[in-house]
Amino acid sequence: MFAGIAGTYDRANSVLSMGVHHRWRTRTVRESGAVPGSAVLDCATGTGDLAIEYKLRVGVGGRVVGTDFCAEMLAFAPAKAAQRGLDIAWDVQDAMALTYPDDSFDVASIAFGIRNVDDPVQALRSMGRVVRPGGRVAVLEFGTPLWWMKPFFTFYSRVIIPLIGGLVSGRRDAYEYLTRTSAAFPTGDAFVALMRQAGVFDVCRVIPLTGGIAYLYIGTVR
Ligand SMILES: C[S@@+](CC[C@H](N)C(=O)[O-])C[C@H]1O[C@@H](n2cnc3c(N)ncnc32)[C@H](O)[C@@H]1O
Repeated sequence: MFAGIAGTYDRANSVLSMGVHHRWRTRTVRESGAVPGSAVLDCATGTGDLAIEYKLRVGVGGRVVGTDFCAEMLAFAPAKAAQRGLDIAWDVQDAMALTYPDDSFDVASIAFGIRNVDDPVQALRSMGRVVRPGGRVAVLEFGTPLWWMKPFFTFYSRVIIPLIGGLVSGRRDAYEYLTRTSAAFPTGDAFVALMRQAGVFDVCRVIPLTGGIAYLYIGTVR
């Protein structure tokens, strides 16, 4: 499915989120604890937007690796980074079975990806394994909006997202999938329960973004 929408993914993202996704990414980087010089792994990076945001933060002394299991999505990332003069490594990897050595990153992240993996707990465990103790795993994902945002977002996600996403990508089914899976995915404490099940985090934090349209989860690795 992601291979089928790869070419239109960025345009659809910008239109559908009205650019707000950039603010969510900036917040993710800030809360992840990444600093200049950090080593960061972005899983399910897609076309690389979050990896790019991390590279801007960690600078030339830092290291960013962007990974995805869908080579067609990843294919758009290197040119985007190169255009901005950013040196980022790209690698085809399954988030549930990362092949990097233990403790090889300060931060691992996944944006709008954890909802798509077959086994979220396994992906969290795999990400926790490659992050050093005290480092952080950052998860950005859609969730259940807070009560005051719910009426607007229910309409927006059921009607506007499939309509506009379908028009931009020619794949209405992919945007129906987005709406359906977002509504069904564990939010807030329910997602923290999955983080705890992974057994690799000491502390877990939840930060609702834009009235709970998206949520940021930060786990500190044990
Ligand atoms: C909605 S896109 C998000 C892309 C990007 N992180 C972003 O924020 O725009 C979801 C991505 O998850 C990837 N994905 C799904 N399951 C995966 C897995 N098990 N391992 C790695 N990537 C996966 C898909 O290939 C797709 O690129």
